[in-house]
Amino acid sequence: MAANDAKTMSTAETLYRERTPKSRKMFDEVSRLIPGGVTGTGFLHPYPSYIVRANGCYLYDVDGNRLTDFMNGSFVLPLGHNHPKVRQAIREQMKNGMFFTFPSIVEQDLAREIIDRVPSIEKVRFSVSGTEATMYATRLARAFTGRTKVAKAVGGYHGTHDGLWIGVGRAAGTGDISVPAGVLPEARDELVFMEFNDTEGSVAAIEGEKDNLAAVIVEPIMGAGGLIPPAPGYLEALRDVTARHDIVLVFDEMISFSIARGGAQEFYGVTPDMTTTGKCAGGGLPIGVFGGRAEIMDLLDPTKTPTGYAKVSHVATYGGHPLSMVSGLAYLQAMTPEVYARLHHLGDLVRSELRHLFARLEAPIQVTGVGHLFGFHWTVQDVTDYATASSSDRDTIHDICLAMISKGYFPSSGARCCVSAAMTERHIRGFVRAMEETLHELDLVS
Ligand SMILES: Cc1ncc(COP(=O)(O)O)c(C=O)c1O
Repeated sequence: MAANDAKTMSTAETLYRERTPKSRKMFDEVSRLIPGGVTGTGFLHPYPSYIVRANGCYLYDVDGNRLTDFMNGSFVLPLGHNHPKVRQAIREQMKNGMFFTFPSIVEQDLAREIIDRVPSIEKVRFSVSGTEATMYATRLARAFTGRTKVAKAVGGYHGTHDGLWIGVGRAAGTGDISVPAGVLPEARDELVFMEFNDTEGSVAAIEGEKDNLAAVIVEPIMGAGGLIPPAPGYLEALRDVTARHDIVLVFDEMISFSIARGGAQEFYGVTPDMTTTGKCAGGGLPIGVFGGRAEIMDLLDPTKTPTGYAKVSHVATYGGHPLSMVSGLAYLQAMTPEVYARLHHLGDLVRSELRHLFARLEAPIQVTGVGHLFGFHWTVQDVTDYATASSSDRDTIHDICLAMISKGYFPSSGARCCVSAAMTERHIRGFVRAMEETLHELDLVS
């Protein structure tokens, strides 16, 4: 075995470079205009593949390669790409113009759909990104409680605003809870850290700061931190301790919303005070969603104060954009009970096939995930929180992902993946077969 040595790394990279010469050329050109050659989340070492179009479960790159997409737009598209109902809804809405300052008549339709689905959401507002949604949820919690601190899990990713862009782990380039470059150092003083799934430790951390905590924000299924499901009783314990001390519990369901009709809170039966989501709620167009108990959300209502100004201002030029509203509604309406069942079936299949494969090959890879979400980690440790997820050998995982792309499968370079309902069992078995070939080719197993 030769995990992470120079030979292994160059094999994976050579395979990738051979398949993607046009992407390489494009990267060289685009990097002169756009730092790193990308805007958004799509960077990959040594360079990303540039995508021309996507349909169903496939991406098509500029080199003419077809990739089966196990990333689905960074967890945005559990139904797959280019859904006909979404295209149709956008086309219809576009006939009426793009944007109006006054609210469009379609905003309420998505609001109704989300309130109907998500147990904790009595009232809702829309922003343009998930980052804004978590920023507003924590701001509302501060205004509601009169306290300032927020507790979050180490490694928890809640968007990129200063208030929560600490302790994000490798995504922030630090891997720990130091303050990343450019972030206000004092933002660190307002955060309380807990380890995801450490019930006793998390409750103690919250109890220790109970008089200062406005909110506890947590992903019910830790996403960027490793696609880690909650340990039995963990979410319940957070609910219990926050309720006891009047701390606003926020579930950040950006990724986990698509696990069930009412998100992970319905799936696990724990209702927070506020919920943030986005991703699939926009059906592929930009969106952020924050909502929760009416008495908290009403702080945004300018008709409820004598001054005529809301206690908490929420302004966003593109908030509630009509195209995102109709696209999100069409997408959610297409997420039927049959679709959720199919996503769970394909997710169960990929997790169990990968586990069998890794056991048979005696590869030290742990599989995480639930529903349509799955992650794989090069470590012998059980992955239950960010610390154990970060024991994964990042370079080896990166090589595996590069080699998988060269075989026509796109897992994220962080090995955090999802299936889509546009896939069949054939795609899952192809992915697992490509994984076996990859591990042999890279000399990672004997
Ligand atoms: C859990 C979670 N919260 C917040 C965000 C930020 O969302 P956005 O990228 O739309 O700002 C993300 C993005 O991936 C996320 O996964």
